[in-house]
Amino acid sequence: MRHEIEKLREMREKLKEGGGLEKIVEQHKKGKLTARERIELLLDENSLVEFNEFVVHRCTLFGMDRRRALGDGVITGFGTIDGRPVLVYAQDFTFMGGSVGEMHAKKIAEVYRVALKIGVPVIGLIDSGGARIQEGVDSLKGYGEIFYLNVLASGVIPQISAIVGPAAGGAVYSPALQDFIFMVRDISYMFLTGPKVVKAALGETVTFQELGGADIHGSKSGVAHFVVDSEEELYTEIKRLLSYLPLNNMDDPPVVKSNDDPERREERLNNIIPSEPLEPYDIYEVIEGIFDLDSFLEVHKDFAPNAVVGFARLDGIPVGVVANQPKVYAGCLDIDSSDKISRFVMFCNAFNIPIVTLVDVPGFLPGTHQEHGGVIRHGAKIVYAYSIATVPKLTVILRKAYGGGYIAMCSSHLGADVVLAWPTAEIAVMGPEGAAEIVYKRELRKSEDRATLLEKLMKKYRDEIANPYVAAGRGYVNSIIEPSETRPTLIRLLKLLMNKRELMRRPPKKHGIPPL
Ligand code: HXC
Repeated sequence: MRHEIEKLREMREKLKEGGGLEKIVEQHKKGKLTARERIELLLDENSLVEFNEFVVHRCTLFGMDRRRALGDGVITGFGTIDGRPVLVYAQDFTFMGGSVGEMHAKKIAEVYRVALKIGVPVIGLIDSGGARIQEGVDSLKGYGEIFYLNVLASGVIPQISAIVGPAAGGAVYSPALQDFIFMVRDISYMFLTGPKVVKAALGETVTFQELGGADIHGSKSGVAHFVVDSEEELYTEIKRLLSYLPLNNMDDPPVVKSNDDPERREERLNNIIPSEPLEPYDIYEVIEGIFDLDSFLEVHKDFAPNAVVGFARLDGIPVGVVANQPKVYAGCLDIDSSDKISRFVMFCNAFNIPIVTLVDVPGFLPGTHQEHGGVIRHGAKIVYAYSIATVPKLTVILRKAYGGGYIAMCSSHLGADVVLAWPTAEIAVMGPEGAAEIVYKRELRKSEDRATLLEKLMKKYRDEIANPYVAAGRGYVNSIIEPSETRPTLIRLLKLLMNKRELMRRPPKKHGIPPL
Protein backbone atom coordinates (compact mmCIF):
# COMPACT_ATOMS: atom_id res chain seq x y z
CA MET A 1 0.00 0.00 0.00
CA ARG A 2 2.72 2.44 1.04
CA HIS A 3 4.55 1.73 -2.22
CA GLU A 4 1.50 2.55 -4.32
CA ILE A 5 0.90 5.77 -2.45
CA GLU A 6 4.57 6.70 -2.92
CA LYS A 7 4.18 6.12 -6.65
CA LEU A 8 1.10 8.36 -6.81
CA ARG A 9 2.96 11.07 -4.93
CA GLU A 10 5.90 10.82 -7.32
CA MET A 11 3.62 11.10 -10.30
CA ARG A 12 1.91 14.12 -8.80
CA GLU A 13 5.32 15.74 -8.32
CA LYS A 14 6.14 14.93 -11.94
CA LEU A 15 2.94 16.67 -13.02
CA LYS A 16 4.28 19.94 -11.64
CA GLU A 17 7.18 19.81 -14.08
CA GLY A 18 4.91 20.18 -17.13
CA GLY A 19 7.13 20.02 -20.22
CA GLY A 20 10.34 20.13 -18.14
CA LEU A 21 12.17 22.44 -15.76
CA GLU A 22 14.18 24.08 -18.56
CA LYS A 23 11.00 24.99 -20.39
CA ILE A 24 9.58 26.49 -17.19
CA VAL A 25 12.65 28.74 -16.96
CA GLU A 26 12.11 29.78 -20.61
CA GLN A 27 8.45 30.48 -19.90
CA HIS A 28 9.36 32.77 -17.00
CA LYS A 29 12.02 34.51 -19.15
CA LYS A 30 9.26 35.41 -21.62
CA GLY A 31 7.49 37.19 -18.74
CA LYS A 32 4.81 34.50 -18.58
CA LEU A 33 3.59 32.40 -15.65
CA THR A 34 3.19 28.64 -15.87
CA ALA A 35 -0.25 27.07 -16.22
CA ARG A 36 -0.18 25.97 -12.56
CA GLU A 37 0.86 29.40 -11.28
CA ARG A 38 -1.95 30.91 -13.31
CA ILE A 39 -4.59 28.62 -11.90
CA GLU A 40 -3.36 29.40 -8.39
CA LEU A 41 -3.85 33.12 -9.02
CA LEU A 42 -7.27 32.61 -10.57
CA LEU A 43 -8.95 30.20 -8.16
CA ASP A 44 -9.66 30.40 -4.44
CA GLU A 45 -6.76 28.98 -2.46
CA ASN A 46 -6.48 25.17 -2.66
CA SER A 47 -9.80 24.90 -4.43
CA LEU A 48 -8.57 23.16 -7.61
CA VAL A 49 -9.81 19.62 -8.08
CA GLU A 50 -7.79 18.53 -11.10
CA PHE A 51 -9.07 15.86 -13.41
CA ASN A 52 -7.63 13.82 -16.26
CA GLU A 53 -4.16 14.79 -15.06
CA PHE A 54 -2.68 11.45 -16.09
CA VAL A 55 -3.84 11.66 -19.68
CA VAL A 56 -1.07 11.31 -22.29
CA HIS A 57 -1.20 11.47 -26.07
CA ARG A 58 -1.07 8.30 -28.16
CA CYS A 59 0.69 9.59 -31.25
CA THR A 60 3.72 7.61 -32.41
CA LEU A 61 4.67 9.52 -35.55
CA PHE A 62 7.64 11.95 -35.76
CA GLY A 63 9.22 10.43 -32.62
CA MET A 64 6.23 11.43 -30.55
CA ASP A 65 6.31 8.08 -28.71
CA ARG A 66 9.44 9.37 -26.94
CA ARG A 67 7.82 12.71 -26.17
CA ARG A 68 5.10 12.54 -23.60
CA ALA A 69 4.11 14.55 -20.54
CA LEU A 70 1.43 13.75 -17.98
CA GLY A 71 -1.61 15.88 -18.71
CA ASP A 72 -0.66 16.38 -22.37
CA GLY A 73 -0.04 20.11 -22.07
CA VAL A 74 -3.25 21.27 -20.43
CA ILE A 75 -4.42 21.41 -16.81
CA THR A 76 -8.16 20.94 -16.39
CA GLY A 77 -10.35 20.93 -13.33
CA PHE A 78 -12.98 22.34 -11.09
CA GLY A 79 -12.53 25.08 -8.50
CA THR A 80 -14.13 28.11 -6.92
CA ILE A 81 -13.76 31.86 -7.36
CA ASP A 82 -15.08 33.94 -4.46
CA GLY A 83 -16.76 30.76 -3.31
CA ARG A 84 -18.67 30.21 -6.58
CA PRO A 85 -17.97 27.17 -8.78
CA VAL A 86 -16.11 27.37 -12.11
CA LEU A 87 -14.49 24.93 -14.51
CA VAL A 88 -11.08 25.83 -15.83
CA TYR A 89 -8.48 24.76 -18.32
CA ALA A 90 -5.00 26.22 -18.64
CA GLN A 91 -2.78 25.34 -21.55
CA ASP A 92 0.81 24.55 -20.66
CA PHE A 93 3.15 26.14 -23.20
CA THR A 94 6.10 24.23 -21.69
CA PHE A 95 4.88 21.03 -23.35
CA MET A 96 4.96 21.33 -27.13
CA GLY A 97 3.98 24.98 -27.05
CA GLY A 98 0.53 24.25 -25.59
CA SER A 99 -0.39 22.78 -28.97
CA VAL A 100 -3.70 20.95 -29.20
CA GLY A 101 -3.54 17.25 -29.97
CA GLU A 102 -6.26 14.62 -29.76
CA MET A 103 -6.01 13.96 -25.99
CA HIS A 104 -5.34 17.59 -25.06
CA ALA A 105 -8.55 18.48 -26.90
CA LYS A 106 -10.43 15.63 -25.25
CA LYS A 107 -9.56 17.05 -21.83
CA ILE A 108 -10.94 20.48 -22.77
CA ALA A 109 -14.06 18.87 -24.24
CA GLU A 110 -14.57 17.03 -20.95
CA VAL A 111 -14.43 20.36 -19.09
CA TYR A 112 -17.26 21.55 -21.30
CA ARG A 113 -19.35 18.43 -20.82
CA VAL A 114 -19.09 18.70 -17.05
CA ALA A 115 -19.77 22.45 -17.11
CA LEU A 116 -22.89 21.95 -19.22
CA LYS A 117 -24.16 19.16 -16.95
CA ILE A 118 -23.84 21.18 -13.78
CA GLY A 119 -24.35 24.68 -15.24
CA VAL A 120 -21.21 26.58 -14.28
CA PRO A 121 -18.99 29.02 -16.22
CA VAL A 122 -15.85 27.87 -18.06
CA ILE A 123 -12.65 29.89 -17.99
CA GLY A 124 -9.90 28.96 -20.46
CA LEU A 125 -6.32 30.23 -20.21
CA ILE A 126 -4.89 30.07 -23.72
CA ASP A 127 -1.16 29.83 -24.41
CA SER A 128 -0.93 27.75 -27.57
CA GLY A 129 0.70 27.31 -30.95
CA GLY A 130 -2.57 25.90 -32.32
CA ALA A 131 -3.23 22.47 -33.79
CA ARG A 132 -0.44 20.00 -32.90
CA ILE A 133 1.14 19.47 -36.28
CA GLN A 134 2.41 15.94 -35.56
CA GLU A 135 -1.09 14.68 -34.74
CA GLY A 136 -2.56 15.77 -38.06
CA VAL A 137 -6.26 15.25 -38.53
CA ASP A 138 -6.72 13.93 -34.96
CA SER A 139 -5.77 17.35 -33.76
CA LEU A 140 -8.23 19.02 -36.16
CA LYS A 141 -10.93 16.65 -34.95
CA GLY A 142 -10.11 17.73 -31.40
CA TYR A 143 -10.51 21.39 -32.27
CA GLY A 144 -13.74 20.71 -34.14
CA GLU A 145 -15.17 19.00 -31.09
CA ILE A 146 -14.22 21.91 -28.83
CA PHE A 147 -15.80 24.43 -31.22
CA TYR A 148 -19.00 22.38 -31.34
CA LEU A 149 -19.18 22.35 -27.54
CA ASN A 150 -18.47 26.11 -27.43
CA VAL A 151 -21.52 26.59 -29.60
CA LEU A 152 -23.69 24.21 -27.55
CA ALA A 153 -22.64 26.09 -24.43
CA SER A 154 -23.30 29.51 -25.96
CA GLY A 155 -26.07 31.25 -24.01
CA VAL A 156 -26.19 28.39 -21.48
CA ILE A 157 -23.07 29.02 -19.36
CA PRO A 158 -20.76 32.05 -19.41
CA GLN A 159 -17.55 31.32 -21.35
CA ILE A 160 -14.43 33.39 -20.77
CA SER A 161 -11.05 33.07 -22.49
CA ALA A 162 -7.87 34.75 -21.36
CA ILE A 163 -5.08 34.84 -23.92
CA VAL A 164 -1.81 34.60 -21.99
CA GLY A 165 0.69 33.92 -24.76
CA PRO A 166 0.21 33.02 -28.39
CA ALA A 167 -3.18 31.97 -29.72
CA ALA A 168 -2.18 30.87 -33.19
CA GLY A 169 -4.21 29.18 -35.91
CA GLY A 170 -6.99 27.00 -34.51
CA ALA A 171 -6.34 28.40 -31.01
CA VAL A 172 -8.23 31.59 -31.88
CA TYR A 173 -11.58 30.10 -32.80
CA SER A 174 -12.61 28.63 -29.49
CA PRO A 175 -12.13 32.03 -27.77
CA ALA A 176 -13.92 33.71 -30.68
CA LEU A 177 -16.97 31.50 -30.07
CA GLN A 178 -17.03 32.40 -26.39
CA ASP A 179 -18.50 35.40 -24.58
CA PHE A 180 -15.47 37.40 -23.44
CA ILE A 181 -11.81 37.51 -24.42
CA PHE A 182 -9.15 39.04 -22.17
CA MET A 183 -5.67 39.89 -23.49
CA VAL A 184 -2.52 40.93 -21.63
CA ARG A 185 -0.28 43.65 -23.14
CA ASP A 186 3.11 42.45 -24.40
CA ILE A 187 2.59 38.71 -23.80
CA SER A 188 -0.63 37.96 -25.71
CA TYR A 189 -1.16 37.78 -29.42
CA MET A 190 -3.82 36.19 -31.60
CA PHE A 191 -3.76 35.50 -35.31
CA LEU A 192 -4.97 32.96 -37.83
CA THR A 193 -1.80 33.16 -39.91
CA GLY A 194 1.46 34.40 -38.43
CA PRO A 195 4.00 37.00 -39.60
CA LYS A 196 5.94 34.44 -41.68
CA VAL A 197 2.90 33.50 -43.73
CA VAL A 198 1.92 37.16 -44.06
CA LYS A 199 5.39 37.90 -45.42
CA ALA A 200 5.28 34.96 -47.84
CA ALA A 201 1.77 35.62 -49.08
CA LEU A 202 1.69 39.43 -49.16
CA GLY A 203 5.28 40.57 -48.79
CA GLU A 204 4.28 42.54 -45.69
CA THR A 205 6.65 42.69 -42.73
CA VAL A 206 4.79 42.74 -39.46
CA THR A 207 5.62 41.81 -35.86
CA PHE A 208 3.54 39.48 -33.67
CA GLN A 209 2.28 42.45 -31.66
CA GLU A 210 1.52 44.58 -34.73
CA LEU A 211 -0.39 41.72 -36.29
CA GLY A 212 -2.41 40.56 -33.32
CA GLY A 213 -1.31 42.14 -30.04
CA ALA A 214 -3.62 43.06 -27.18
CA ASP A 215 -4.04 46.70 -28.18
CA ILE A 216 -4.83 45.88 -31.80
CA HIS A 217 -7.53 43.43 -30.80
CA GLY A 218 -8.77 45.67 -28.00
CA SER A 219 -9.18 48.75 -30.17
CA LYS A 220 -9.14 47.94 -33.89
CA SER A 221 -10.52 44.48 -34.52
CA GLY A 222 -12.75 44.30 -31.43
CA VAL A 223 -11.78 40.65 -30.97
CA ALA A 224 -10.69 41.32 -27.35
CA HIS A 225 -13.19 42.68 -24.82
CA PHE A 226 -10.72 43.48 -22.05
CA VAL A 227 -7.04 44.47 -22.23
CA VAL A 228 -4.90 44.48 -19.08
CA ASP A 229 -1.28 45.29 -18.30
CA SER A 230 -0.22 42.19 -16.36
CA GLU A 231 -1.25 38.65 -15.55
CA GLU A 232 -1.91 39.67 -11.92
CA GLU A 233 -4.37 42.33 -13.12
CA LEU A 234 -5.90 39.77 -15.46
CA TYR A 235 -7.03 37.41 -12.70
CA THR A 236 -8.44 40.29 -10.64
CA GLU A 237 -10.45 41.49 -13.64
CA ILE A 238 -11.79 38.03 -14.51
CA LYS A 239 -13.03 37.72 -10.92
CA ARG A 240 -14.62 41.17 -11.20
CA LEU A 241 -16.43 40.20 -14.39
CA LEU A 242 -17.72 36.97 -12.85
CA SER A 243 -19.18 38.94 -9.93
CA TYR A 244 -21.86 40.31 -12.32
CA LEU A 245 -22.72 37.01 -13.97
CA PRO A 246 -25.06 34.18 -13.06
CA LEU A 247 -23.67 30.64 -13.12
CA ASN A 248 -25.89 29.72 -16.05
CA ASN A 249 -28.91 30.85 -18.03
CA MET A 250 -31.37 29.45 -15.46
CA ASP A 251 -29.72 31.35 -12.61
CA ASP A 252 -30.09 35.02 -11.61
CA PRO A 253 -27.11 37.38 -11.56
CA PRO A 254 -25.74 37.81 -8.03
CA VAL A 255 -27.18 40.76 -6.11
CA VAL A 256 -24.77 42.39 -3.66
CA LYS A 257 -25.32 44.78 -0.79
CA SER A 258 -24.77 48.27 -2.15
CA ASN A 259 -22.88 50.97 -0.26
CA ASP A 260 -24.54 53.65 -2.35
CA ASP A 261 -27.78 55.40 -1.40
CA PRO A 262 -30.60 54.27 -3.73
CA GLU A 263 -32.18 57.71 -3.27
CA ARG A 264 -28.99 59.58 -4.25
CA ARG A 265 -29.93 62.48 -6.50
CA GLU A 266 -27.05 63.79 -8.50
CA GLU A 267 -27.79 67.52 -8.87
CA ARG A 268 -24.89 67.99 -11.30
CA LEU A 269 -26.81 65.92 -13.87
CA ASN A 270 -29.31 68.81 -14.09
CA ASN A 271 -26.54 70.90 -15.66
CA ILE A 272 -24.72 68.31 -17.70
CA ILE A 273 -26.43 68.87 -21.06
CA PRO A 274 -24.77 71.92 -22.68
CA SER A 275 -27.11 74.70 -23.84
CA GLU A 276 -25.47 74.58 -27.28
CA PRO A 277 -26.91 71.46 -29.07
CA LEU A 278 -23.68 70.64 -30.89
CA GLU A 279 -21.54 70.76 -27.77
CA PRO A 280 -20.55 67.36 -26.41
CA TYR A 281 -20.40 66.14 -22.79
CA ASP A 282 -18.93 63.01 -21.31
CA ILE A 283 -21.31 60.06 -20.96
CA TYR A 284 -19.05 58.56 -18.27
CA GLU A 285 -20.10 61.43 -15.97
CA VAL A 286 -23.75 60.48 -16.51
CA ILE A 287 -23.00 56.81 -15.83
CA GLU A 288 -21.21 57.78 -12.61
CA GLY A 289 -24.17 59.86 -11.51
CA ILE A 290 -26.72 57.09 -12.04
CA PHE A 291 -25.21 53.70 -11.14
CA ASP A 292 -23.80 52.46 -7.81
CA LEU A 293 -20.47 54.12 -7.07
CA ASP A 294 -17.48 52.40 -8.72
CA SER A 295 -19.71 49.63 -10.05
CA PHE A 296 -19.18 50.24 -13.78
CA LEU A 297 -17.11 47.54 -15.49
CA GLU A 298 -16.63 48.62 -19.08
CA VAL A 299 -16.57 46.05 -21.88
CA HIS A 300 -14.80 46.84 -25.18
CA LYS A 301 -13.43 50.07 -23.66
CA ASP A 302 -11.22 51.11 -26.57
CA PHE A 303 -13.22 49.57 -29.41
CA ALA A 304 -15.89 51.79 -31.03
CA PRO A 305 -15.72 54.44 -28.28
CA ASN A 306 -18.72 56.27 -29.78
CA ALA A 307 -20.77 53.72 -27.86
CA VAL A 308 -20.14 52.65 -24.27
CA VAL A 309 -21.25 49.28 -22.89
CA GLY A 310 -20.57 47.49 -19.64
CA PHE A 311 -21.90 46.05 -16.42
CA ALA A 312 -22.93 48.12 -13.43
CA ARG A 313 -25.22 47.85 -10.42
CA LEU A 314 -28.33 49.67 -9.29
CA ASP A 315 -28.81 49.24 -5.54
CA GLY A 316 -26.65 46.12 -5.83
CA ILE A 317 -28.58 44.58 -8.77
CA PRO A 318 -26.39 43.85 -11.84
CA VAL A 319 -27.48 45.55 -15.05
CA GLY A 320 -26.03 45.94 -18.53
CA VAL A 321 -25.46 49.57 -19.54
CA VAL A 322 -25.58 50.67 -23.17
CA ALA A 323 -24.95 54.33 -24.00
CA ASN A 324 -23.97 56.67 -26.81
CA GLN A 325 -20.87 58.79 -26.20
CA PRO A 326 -21.47 62.35 -27.51
CA LYS A 327 -17.71 63.03 -27.23
CA VAL A 328 -16.89 60.65 -30.10
CA TYR A 329 -18.48 61.20 -33.55
CA ALA A 330 -21.17 63.13 -31.64
CA GLY A 331 -22.42 59.71 -30.45
CA CYS A 332 -23.34 58.52 -33.97
CA LEU A 333 -23.80 54.80 -34.48
CA ASP A 334 -21.55 53.09 -37.02
CA ILE A 335 -20.46 49.60 -38.05
CA ASP A 336 -18.28 48.82 -35.06
CA SER A 337 -20.53 50.37 -32.42
CA SER A 338 -23.47 48.41 -33.87
CA ASP A 339 -21.55 45.16 -33.44
CA LYS A 340 -20.47 46.18 -29.96
CA ILE A 341 -23.97 47.08 -28.78
CA SER A 342 -25.84 44.17 -30.34
CA ARG A 343 -23.44 41.56 -29.03
CA PHE A 344 -23.57 43.00 -25.52
CA VAL A 345 -27.38 43.19 -25.54
CA MET A 346 -27.58 39.55 -26.64
CA PHE A 347 -25.25 38.49 -23.85
CA CYS A 348 -27.30 40.33 -21.22
CA ASN A 349 -30.51 38.83 -22.53
CA ALA A 350 -29.11 35.29 -22.53
CA PHE A 351 -28.00 35.62 -18.91
CA ASN A 352 -30.99 37.41 -17.35
CA ILE A 353 -29.24 40.74 -16.92
CA PRO A 354 -31.60 43.76 -17.25
CA ILE A 355 -30.52 46.42 -19.74
CA VAL A 356 -30.43 50.17 -19.14
CA THR A 357 -29.96 52.22 -22.34
CA LEU A 358 -28.87 55.88 -22.22
CA VAL A 359 -29.64 57.61 -25.51
CA ASP A 360 -28.01 60.62 -27.14
CA VAL A 361 -27.76 59.68 -30.78
CA PRO A 362 -27.89 61.97 -33.82
CA GLY A 363 -28.24 58.93 -36.12
CA PHE A 364 -25.93 56.71 -38.15
CA LEU A 365 -22.52 57.93 -39.32
CA PRO A 366 -22.75 58.95 -43.00
CA GLY A 367 -20.23 58.19 -45.78
CA THR A 368 -19.07 55.68 -48.35
CA HIS A 369 -16.77 53.94 -45.86
CA GLN A 370 -19.77 53.11 -43.68
CA GLU A 371 -22.24 52.35 -46.48
CA HIS A 372 -19.79 50.17 -48.39
CA GLY A 373 -18.78 48.44 -45.18
CA GLY A 374 -22.38 47.36 -44.71
CA VAL A 375 -23.61 49.74 -41.99
CA ILE A 376 -27.16 48.81 -43.03
CA ARG A 377 -26.56 45.17 -42.15
CA HIS A 378 -24.60 46.00 -38.99
CA GLY A 379 -27.01 48.65 -37.73
CA ALA A 380 -29.88 46.19 -38.18
CA LYS A 381 -28.21 43.97 -35.59
CA ILE A 382 -29.01 46.49 -32.84
CA VAL A 383 -32.70 46.43 -33.75
CA TYR A 384 -32.59 42.64 -33.85
CA ALA A 385 -30.81 42.29 -30.50
CA TYR A 386 -33.12 44.63 -28.60
CA SER A 387 -36.22 43.13 -30.22
CA ILE A 388 -35.41 39.58 -29.17
CA ALA A 389 -34.40 40.67 -25.66
CA THR A 390 -36.99 39.76 -23.04
CA VAL A 391 -35.06 40.89 -19.95
CA PRO A 392 -36.22 44.13 -18.30
CA LYS A 393 -35.38 46.97 -20.70
CA LEU A 394 -35.20 50.53 -19.37
CA THR A 395 -34.39 53.45 -21.66
CA VAL A 396 -33.48 57.02 -20.78
CA ILE A 397 -33.38 59.60 -23.59
CA LEU A 398 -30.94 62.30 -22.52
CA ARG A 399 -30.76 64.53 -25.55
CA LYS A 400 -30.81 63.57 -29.23
CA ALA A 401 -32.83 60.60 -30.40
CA TYR A 402 -33.08 61.01 -34.12
CA GLY A 403 -34.33 58.73 -36.85
CA GLY A 404 -33.09 55.15 -36.98
CA GLY A 405 -30.89 55.84 -33.97
CA TYR A 406 -33.99 56.64 -31.89
CA ILE A 407 -35.73 53.44 -32.92
CA ALA A 408 -32.64 51.24 -32.58
CA MET A 409 -31.57 52.43 -29.13
CA CYS A 410 -34.25 50.46 -27.33
CA SER A 411 -37.26 52.64 -28.12
CA SER A 412 -40.66 51.60 -26.77
CA HIS A 413 -41.39 50.27 -30.28
CA LEU A 414 -38.71 47.56 -29.79
CA GLY A 415 -40.26 46.51 -26.51
CA ALA A 416 -38.62 48.79 -23.93
CA ASP A 417 -40.58 48.29 -20.72
CA VAL A 418 -40.22 51.91 -19.67
CA VAL A 419 -38.85 54.90 -21.60
CA LEU A 420 -37.88 57.93 -19.56
CA ALA A 421 -36.79 61.24 -21.07
CA TRP A 422 -34.94 64.19 -19.69
CA PRO A 423 -36.57 67.57 -20.51
CA THR A 424 -33.62 68.15 -22.88
CA ALA A 425 -34.63 65.22 -25.10
CA GLU A 426 -35.01 65.93 -28.81
CA ILE A 427 -36.97 63.13 -30.43
CA ALA A 428 -37.58 63.49 -34.16
CA VAL A 429 -36.92 62.06 -37.59
CA MET A 430 -33.79 64.20 -37.96
CA GLY A 431 -31.99 67.19 -36.44
CA PRO A 432 -33.53 70.69 -36.71
CA GLU A 433 -31.15 71.99 -39.40
CA GLY A 434 -31.60 69.07 -41.80
CA ALA A 435 -35.35 69.05 -41.22
CA ALA A 436 -35.76 72.82 -41.79
CA GLU A 437 -33.64 72.63 -44.97
CA ILE A 438 -35.97 69.97 -46.39
CA VAL A 439 -39.35 71.14 -45.14
CA TYR A 440 -38.78 74.85 -45.88
CA LYS A 441 -36.62 74.42 -48.99
CA ARG A 442 -38.63 76.92 -51.07
CA GLU A 443 -38.94 79.58 -48.35
CA LEU A 444 -35.21 79.40 -47.65
CA ARG A 445 -34.31 79.67 -51.34
CA LYS A 446 -36.41 82.81 -51.74
CA SER A 447 -35.25 84.46 -48.52
CA GLU A 448 -32.89 87.45 -48.60
CA ASP A 449 -31.60 86.71 -45.09
CA ARG A 450 -31.31 82.92 -45.26
CA ALA A 451 -29.30 82.49 -42.04
CA THR A 452 -31.79 84.38 -39.83
CA LEU A 453 -34.73 82.55 -41.37
CA LEU A 454 -33.02 79.16 -40.90
CA GLU A 455 -32.36 79.99 -37.25
CA LYS A 456 -36.02 80.95 -36.77
CA LEU A 457 -37.29 77.81 -38.50
CA MET A 458 -34.99 75.59 -36.47
CA LYS A 459 -36.32 77.12 -33.25
CA LYS A 460 -39.88 76.53 -34.46
CA TYR A 461 -38.98 72.90 -35.24
CA ARG A 462 -37.45 72.43 -31.80
CA ASP A 463 -40.43 73.98 -30.03
CA GLU A 464 -43.01 72.09 -32.01
CA ILE A 465 -41.42 68.74 -32.78
CA ALA A 466 -37.93 68.02 -31.41
CA ASN A 467 -38.79 67.84 -27.71
CA PRO A 468 -39.88 65.03 -25.39
CA TYR A 469 -43.49 66.21 -25.03
CA VAL A 470 -44.70 65.10 -28.45
CA ALA A 471 -43.45 61.53 -27.88
CA ALA A 472 -44.76 61.66 -24.29
CA GLY A 473 -48.12 62.81 -25.66
CA ARG A 474 -48.28 59.65 -27.75
CA GLY A 475 -47.14 57.46 -24.81
CA TYR A 476 -43.85 56.52 -26.54
CA VAL A 477 -42.08 58.19 -23.63
CA ASN A 478 -43.60 57.08 -20.35
CA SER A 479 -42.34 59.87 -18.16
CA ILE A 480 -40.25 63.03 -18.33
CA ILE A 481 -37.98 63.36 -15.32
CA GLU A 482 -35.38 65.73 -13.97
CA PRO A 483 -31.93 64.33 -14.71
CA SER A 484 -31.11 64.30 -10.98
CA GLU A 485 -34.05 61.91 -10.40
CA THR A 486 -32.71 59.29 -12.79
CA ARG A 487 -31.01 57.01 -10.26
CA PRO A 488 -33.88 56.68 -7.74
CA THR A 489 -36.42 56.36 -10.57
CA LEU A 490 -34.46 53.61 -12.35
CA ILE A 491 -33.96 51.69 -9.10
CA ARG A 492 -37.68 51.74 -8.34
CA LEU A 493 -38.56 50.66 -11.88
CA LEU A 494 -35.90 47.95 -11.97
CA LYS A 495 -37.20 46.39 -8.76
CA LEU A 496 -40.73 46.36 -10.20
CA LEU A 497 -39.54 44.85 -13.43
CA MET A 498 -37.57 42.03 -11.86
CA ASN A 499 -40.76 39.97 -11.94
CA LYS A 500 -41.46 40.81 -15.56
CA ARG A 501 -43.34 38.29 -17.70
CA GLU A 502 -43.55 38.75 -21.46
CA LEU A 503 -47.18 39.28 -22.47
CA MET A 504 -46.76 38.82 -26.18
CA ARG A 505 -46.31 35.28 -27.43
CA ARG A 506 -43.56 35.11 -29.99
CA PRO A 507 -44.07 32.92 -33.06
CA PRO A 508 -42.59 29.45 -32.58
CA LYS A 509 -39.39 28.93 -34.59
CA LYS A 510 -36.16 26.98 -34.60
CA HIS A 511 -34.16 30.18 -34.45
CA GLY A 512 -34.22 33.59 -36.09
CA ILE A 513 -31.63 34.77 -38.59
CA PRO A 514 -29.81 37.83 -37.27
CA PRO A 515 -28.48 40.24 -39.92
CA LEU A 516 -24.88 38.99 -39.53
C1 HXC B 1 3.44 21.28 -32.61
C2 HXC B 1 4.33 23.21 -31.76
C3 HXC B 1 3.31 23.97 -32.36
C4 HXC B 1 2.32 23.28 -33.11
C5 HXC B 1 4.61 25.30 -31.30
N1 HXC B 1 5.12 24.07 -31.11
N2 HXC B 1 3.51 25.27 -32.05
N3 HXC B 1 4.38 21.89 -31.89
N4 HXC B 1 2.42 21.94 -33.20
N5 HXC B 1 1.30 23.93 -33.69
C6 HXC B 1 6.30 23.69 -30.36
C7 HXC B 1 7.59 24.17 -31.00
O1 HXC B 1 7.97 23.25 -31.98
C8 HXC B 1 8.52 24.17 -29.81
O2 HXC B 1 8.91 22.84 -29.55
C9 HXC B 1 7.62 24.61 -28.68
O3 HXC B 1 6.29 24.35 -29.10
C10 HXC B 1 7.74 26.08 -28.36
O4 HXC B 1 7.62 26.80 -29.57
P1 HXC B 1 8.63 27.95 -30.01
O5 HXC B 1 8.44 28.16 -31.44
O6 HXC B 1 10.00 27.61 -29.53
O7 HXC B 1 8.10 29.17 -29.15
P2 HXC B 1 8.00 30.71 -29.55
O8 HXC B 1 9.29 31.16 -30.13
O9 HXC B 1 7.49 31.41 -28.33
O10 HXC B 1 6.90 30.78 -30.71
C11 HXC B 1 5.56 30.45 -30.44
C12 HXC B 1 4.77 30.33 -31.76
C13 HXC B 1 5.51 29.34 -32.71
C14 HXC B 1 4.70 31.71 -32.42
C15 HXC B 1 3.37 29.89 -31.41
O11 HXC B 1 5.75 28.15 -32.00
C16 HXC B 1 4.69 29.04 -33.93
O12 HXC B 1 4.66 29.83 -34.87
N6 HXC B 1 4.04 27.88 -33.90
C17 HXC B 1 3.20 27.46 -35.01
C18 HXC B 1 1.96 28.30 -35.03
C19 HXC B 1 1.00 27.91 -36.12
O13 HXC B 1 1.23 28.14 -37.30
N7 HXC B 1 -0.08 27.26 -35.72
C20 HXC B 1 -1.10 26.91 -36.63
C21 HXC B 1 -1.18 25.42 -36.67
S1 HXC B 1 -2.44 25.07 -37.83
P3 HXC B 1 10.27 22.44 -28.84
O14 HXC B 1 10.55 21.06 -29.35
O15 HXC B 1 11.30 23.45 -29.20
O16 HXC B 1 9.93 22.45 -27.40
C22 HXC B 1 -3.87 25.26 -36.99
C23 HXC B 1 -5.06 25.07 -37.85
C24 HXC B 1 -6.17 24.49 -37.04
O17 HXC B 1 -3.94 25.53 -35.85
C25 HXC B 1 -7.44 24.95 -37.65
C26 HXC B 1 -8.58 24.51 -36.83
C27 HXC B 1 -9.81 25.27 -37.24
